This record gives sequence, C-alpha cells and structure tokens, in this order.
Amino acid sequence: MADMQTHLPHPAKTRGVKSRLLHEHRAFDQLLTQLTSALEGGDPVDIGEVWTQFERRLRDHVDTEERYLFPLVASTHRTEIDGLRLEHQRIRCALGELGNLVDLHALRKASVDELLLYLLQHAAREERTLYQWVEDDTTPQRGLHAMFARHTTPEPGPDE
Ligand SMILES: [Fe+2]
Ligand SMILES: [Fe+2]
Repeated sequence: MADMQTHLPHPAKTRGVKSRLLHEHRAFDQLLTQLTSALEGGDPVDIGEVWTQFERRLRDHVDTEERYLFPLVASTHRTEIDGLRLEHQRIRCALGELGNLVDLHALRKASVDELLLYLLQHAAREERTLYQWVEDDTTPQRGLHAMFARHTTPEPGPDE
C-alpha cells in the first residue's frame, strides 16, 4: 500500500500533502484489520484498545476534513461536499453503534467488515473528488498546512 505514494504523478509539494491524507485512509484499513484479529483472539482488553485508537483517529480525521478542507472547496463543489458530509454523519453513527457493541463485548466481525467496506468507498470518493480538488488548487494548501500543524503541535493556538 505504501507504494501508492511513490506512484502519484504530482509535484512533490502537493504529493506530500496528499500522501499524508492517503496514509491516514490506509491506517484506518490497517486498524480495522487489527480489530478483526483482536476479535478472533477474543481478548476484550485487546479489542477495546484497538477500537479506542481507531475511533479516536477516525473521528479526528473526519472532524479535521470538515473543519479545514470542506470550507475551502464547498463554494465550488457544494453538492459533492454535502454528500461527503452526509457520509461523515453515517460514519459517526456507525462509530457510536459499534462503540456500544465493544462496550457490551458484542462486536462481531460482520459489523467490522461492513464498516470497512463503507470506509473504503468513502475514501475512494474523497480521493477522486475532495483530495483531487485540493491538489489542483493551490489556495486550499493553506488549510492543509493548518490541518497538519494541528496534528504536530501539542498546544494549537486559538488563532486561525
Ligand atoms: Fe472523509
Ligand atoms: Fe478522509
């Protein structure tokens, strides 16, 4: 999967940003694979740890996309951004439902598989649309830098 980053035919500046976004998508796939392994192992502590990490990272990912990326392209691609926002709502719903199942030690592989499929479709859609537009337009780069500064700075300032 890491090979994908080296095949992107784009300038290094935008490739770096896009690669980081793509890397986060791949990380969710990997965490759900780990979650499936944990379910097979049957250790509730292990399942809970993997789930907690997955849920935290995915919620942060969709929050930051909405906060930093959506506003930059919403005026030119309103319908598509509305569609992505609806998918984010479904993702948050699924996280809540599956999180409850984790708490009840009742999460099943079928539910994980269903979420994985949905996330793969959502990621593919974003990579065709949102990420491509961001890459094609230099203006959103400012938003991306702010987005990643948030990830690397422990105490983000209140200023935009
Ligand atoms: Fe998203
Ligand atoms: Fe995404």
